[in-house]
Formats: sequence, structure tokens, C-alpha cells
Amino acid sequence: MNLSFKDEILAGIPADRLPEAKPYDKDINHAPKRKDILKPEEKVLALKNALRYFPESLHAQLAPEFAEELNLYGRIYMYRYRPSYKIYARPVEEYPARSRQAAAIMAMIQNNLDERVAQHPHELIIYGGNGAIFQNWAQYRLVMQYLATMTDEQTLVMYSGHPLGLFPSHKDAPRVIVTNGMVIPNYSKPDDWERMNALGVSQYGQMTAGSYMYIGPQGIVHGTTITVMNAARKQGGSPAGKLFVTAGLGGMSGAQPKAGNIAGVVSVTAEINPKAAEKRYTQGWVDELHPSLDELIPRIKKAVANKEVVSLAYVGNVVDLWERLADEGIHVDLGSDQTSLHNPWAGGYYPVGYSLEESKKMMADDPAAFKEAVQASLRRHVAAINRLTAKGMYFFDYGNAFLLESSRAGADVLRLDGSFRYPSYVQDIMGPLYFDYGFGPFRWVCMSEKPEDLALTDALAMEVLGRIAERSPEEIAGQMRDNIHWIEEAGRNHLVVGSQARILYADCEGRTQIALAFNEAIRDGRLKGPVVLGRDHHDVSGTDSPFRETSNIYDGSRFCADMAVQNVIGDGFRGATWVSIHNGGGVGWGEVINGGFGMVIDGSEDSARHIREMLFWDVNNGIARRSWARNAGARFAIEREMARTPDLRVTLPNEADETLIIKSLNQQ
Ligand SMILES: NC(=O)c1ccc[n+]([C@@H]2O[C@H](COP(=O)([O-])OP(=O)(O)OC[C@H]3O[C@@H](n4cnc5c(N)ncnc54)[C@H](O)[C@@H]3O)[C@@H](O)[C@H]2O)c1
Repeated sequence: MNLSFKDEILAGIPADRLPEAKPYDKDINHAPKRKDILKPEEKVLALKNALRYFPESLHAQLAPEFAEELNLYGRIYMYRYRPSYKIYARPVEEYPARSRQAAAIMAMIQNNLDERVAQHPHELIIYGGNGAIFQNWAQYRLVMQYLATMTDEQTLVMYSGHPLGLFPSHKDAPRVIVTNGMVIPNYSKPDDWERMNALGVSQYGQMTAGSYMYIGPQGIVHGTTITVMNAARKQGGSPAGKLFVTAGLGGMSGAQPKAGNIAGVVSVTAEINPKAAEKRYTQGWVDELHPSLDELIPRIKKAVANKEVVSLAYVGNVVDLWERLADEGIHVDLGSDQTSLHNPWAGGYYPVGYSLEESKKMMADDPAAFKEAVQASLRRHVAAINRLTAKGMYFFDYGNAFLLESSRAGADVLRLDGSFRYPSYVQDIMGPLYFDYGFGPFRWVCMSEKPEDLALTDALAMEVLGRIAERSPEEIAGQMRDNIHWIEEAGRNHLVVGSQARILYADCEGRTQIALAFNEAIRDGRLKGPVVLGRDHHDVSGTDSPFRETSNIYDGSRFCADMAVQNVIGDGFRGATWVSIHNGGGVGWGEVINGGFGMVIDGSEDSARHIREMLFWDVNNGIARRSWARNAGARFAIEREMARTPDLRVTLPNEADETLIIKSLNQQ
């Protein structure tokens, strides 16, 4: 029986029948087999856990099927329960719903799972190799059913992909509260995730994957463009003819070549997985694919000599590329890496000397040997990079735990005092220039799914930023200019993959004024549907991550997570439509706590109030914390905010004289 789209959503998990089994689609990018971590008695538990979504009458058929999935893939995805309709963000009114806010969340979920957007869509992995939206298709079906039937006086509670249920609340409360990977701190090692995920009780939500806020590679293109542009500026002179070398054409990393082009450099990105490279090539995100280094090297020389703006990809292992560049004595201006080193033992990083298939097999069959191969590869990786930085290359960690994992592998990446010999991009660029002033990756999605709505929002954002920039203080004038340039070019750069979404970096004033302008345009009908506001978790206040977002916090608090936890609580009672808080994301399980929000605005007075109240907190929480950590830009920004907001009173630090302190300590 073929149900309509709406009826299939409303049916949830049918109690009386099994949906037709879905054949394993070989043409799609699948998650690697996860390691076989469960003891026999734990496998019993995993199956019991999976079967609790279904009536007992179906267990005889489902149990062997799930046992086979656990055996073949290391996880129970419940492939049979993939819906029969195509998954993509439909215009909001096409969803069955009693709450428009809930319908918007359904569209966001479907956008994340769109085959053009998700990395391993059938395993519900959105990006980063393990960034999950749900653990299995039963959860997806239940969530969609709950969202389709809930009202604006209920809240859906999500535990790591599992919908605990709908609870009565009120219209100003979030419609959905998401937690992902929240575990007792002492049980937050990578294998704890493997075990709990295989048991079906926890998941790695990455940052925007588990919070339904991923908008494809555009989300990261902008941040990457800012980073590459500013890294090139650090090297002095014009970007033309500068060579930028990096790795990864996956979910997020796939943005690097495009950002290289926008920044005006020659970029070379290594990608070992031909499917991932091909996907980015056909989407127009990288200009040329080169499977052979012999043929790539002369092409690089030519591109640099002619100062071309071009993105080249090496389809192979990045370590081979770095070693060849070092051997050939090619001058590289900028270097980085975006392999998924937050997930080094389960497919995030492929060791040199092994084919992709060999690695995948070793990872599942002999995890200890695989770990050794990865660590040996990282030592070679760093050694080649060190040869090039000795000749003037500027290398930065790109927030993927490259330096952290390399140091754990014994690579030559530490200074005598134990600190990393290379900076993270947040220490050098994103922190002092952006986060400390409240600039972060604000984004929006037009729920009408009409390109003309997106074009109008671009124009409104440009107008608002232009107006604010006229009176911006010198400290943030450059950031404003770069963002106005970005939004002017955004339409022409064809950045949309999936839903009609846009990102730009803005501070509190920018985000608020842009959102209010959208709200008015919805109210007077210029915009044809509601708009979802959100942001990457990678932001001013949302993320405590000692090797990334908070790596430029130097008062000893970078291993504390109060800011991220406070942030999500504060957003929750100031008007967010949904909030989420995650363990892991970006740099790895146990290494970061990050959170985000989504807010549906519909032109109403309530929306205007939510925008004002929630965005203010969502940005200024982090600025206040950064100011308390004695970051000069943040001190400037929070004092400026206090001057215009009488109700804001932030504790400011007093500076102490270090000579006095040392003298006092020496007297003891
Ligand atoms: N700094 C930031 O703002 C930022 C943003 C997004 C992602 N990240 C981090 O960057 C990493 C990449 O994210 P993603 O979403 O692109 O992950 P991904 O897993 O989709 O992509 C990584 C790619 O690297 C390739 N790869 C792995 N080892 C390789 C090797 N040795 N040589 C060549 N290619 C290799 C993989 O095949 C994969 O396609 C993650 O750790 C993520 O957390 C940082």
C-alpha cells in the first residue's frame, strides 16, 4: 500500500505491518563499518533496545534483520524503516502539522537528510563521518510523527536521537529540546561513544547535525573564506598566486576549495575518497580533479606562476602530497588540514600507504593495527609539514584536532614548554578578530523554499549591514566590510545545496537588526513564508572547546563548559523554537561541549520579542565571558553594549601587574 507523503509521516511506525525492505543502495556514500565493540551480552541488550520501538508481533521478523545489521555494520540502522518518499526540505505548508513551528523543524530535519546534503544519508550521518541526526530510522519516523501532531503548547524532548515524548508546556517554550551525547564526564572516551552508540543509547550529534541546523557546505564556506583571506593577509601582499594546501573534500572540508577561490588563491586539496571528490567536483565546489601527483605538480607550478584563481584536488592521500611538495621544494604559503581527526579510529583519517578499502577493512578487523597505522601516518604528515614551515609556510590547525591527535601520536608538533608549535585558526584569526567582538556564523533558511525569498533576504541583510557599517567603530570596520562583500557576492556564488539558506558573520546588533528586518518583511508579505534563524555552534558563546572555539581563552578556564551550558539554558527561556546541547562535535567526543538554537520567525510581535531577547543573550553571554578572560576585543565590545543597554551589567576584570605578582610569590 502506497501512502501519501503526509500519511506516511502521520503513520509513524506502523503497528500492524512491516514496511517493505529497502535494498542496500550501492550508489550512495555509506558510513564505514563500525568496530565490533559489544560483548555478546551487550549485543543482546542492543537488540532488546532496538526492538522496544516495535510491537512484539513484529519481533520475530525484525530481530534477525537487526542482528544482521549489527553484525555487518556494527550498528542497527533499521534500514527497512527508511521512508518511501524522497527526503528534502519541502515548502513548510506541505508538512502535515498543527504547529507551524513544528512544521519548520520537520523541513530542517529533512534538509539535513537530503541525499545532496548528508554525507551518509542512509545511516543518518550528516557530516564529519559520525555526526548523526538520529541513530536509526525508527527514531526518525517517531520524531516526524510527534512533530506532525504536536501543538504550540507542547515540547518534544530528544535524548540523543531518541524522542522521549511530548510534554505539556506553553507557547513561549521551545518546541523541541535536544541533548546529544550527554554522558557522565568520566565515561566520555571515544570507545564509550562506540559502545553506547552501538547499544542505541547515545549519539554523536557533531554540531549542527544533531540540531537540524546543517545547511550543507555553504555553512562553512563563509567561515573558511574569512579564515583563508585573513591567513593570506598575515603572509602580506595580495592573495594572487599564493598557494594554499589542505585536505578533505567531505561534508565541511568540501568548502575549502570554494573558499580558496573566493579568497583569490591557488588551492590544492587532497581527498582520498574518489566518491567524495567526485561529489564536490560535480557540485562545482572544486575546479579540477587530479589522480596523479606527477601530473598535479606541474599544474600547481603553472597555476602559481600565472596567478590563477583555481582550486585543484589531489585524489589521494594528503601525506603523499605533502611529502612530494617538500621533496620538490615547492613554496607553499598557507597550509592546513580538515580530515576528520576528531574521529581518528573510525574512518575520519586514512593512513598513508593503504588504499581506502584496505583501511576500511583494517579499521573493522584489526582496530589496534589501524590505530598504529594512523599514528605512524600522522608522524610522517607532521614531518613533511615541518619541512615546509621551516621554509616560510604559515600552518594553522583548522579545528579538526589535527595538532591534538598528532601530539598524541608522538609527532614532532610540540614546543619545549608543551604547547603546540602551530596556532589554531581561532587563536590567530577567528577569536581575536571575530568571536571576541561577537561576530559569528548567523544563518537563516527561507521556509517558502523560494529562491526569490532568499534573494530578498540577501538584499535586506546587505542594506542593514551597510547602514550599521556607516557608524561602526574602527575595531570592527574590517569585519563589517568583509561580510558586506560576502553577502553582495553570495547570490552569484551559487552556494545553495538543499534548502534556501544563507549564512553570514554578524555581531549582536547585525544579527538582531537583520532578523527584525526579515520579520517585518514576513509581516507585510514581501517574504512569502516564515524564516528559520539559527547559527553554527561554532560561535562566540555556543561552544566551549579548548582546542578550537575557546583556544584563545588564556585565564585557565578553557576546559570549563559553563558558557555553553548557560547559553543553551538562556536561549531556552528567551524565545528559541528549539535548542540543543552536545558533547563532542568538531574536535571529538569528550573534547567539547557545544550548543545551538533554531528560531522560527513568522512576522508576529512574539517573533520580534524573541529576536530581541534571545539573540542579545546568545551573543553577549560569550562576549562577557571572553571579556572576563581579559580578551581586549571582548572588553571593548561588552563595554560598548553596556553603554547602549542600561539593563546589562557585566562583571569586568581588573588587570594586575605581573611584576608585582611574581615579586609577591618570590617573597614567600
Ligand atoms: N574549523 C571549522 O570551522 C571546522 C568546520 C567544520 C569541520 N571542521 C572539522 O574538520 C573536519 C572535517 O569535517 P568534514 O565534515 O569535512 O568531515 P568529513 O569526514 O566529511 O570529511 C573529511 C574528508 O577527509 C578525507 N580524508 C581522511 N583522511 C585523509 C587523508 N589521509 N588524505 C586525504 N583525505 C583524507 C575523508 O575521505 C573525508 O572525505 C572535522 O574534524 C570537523 O570537525 C572544522
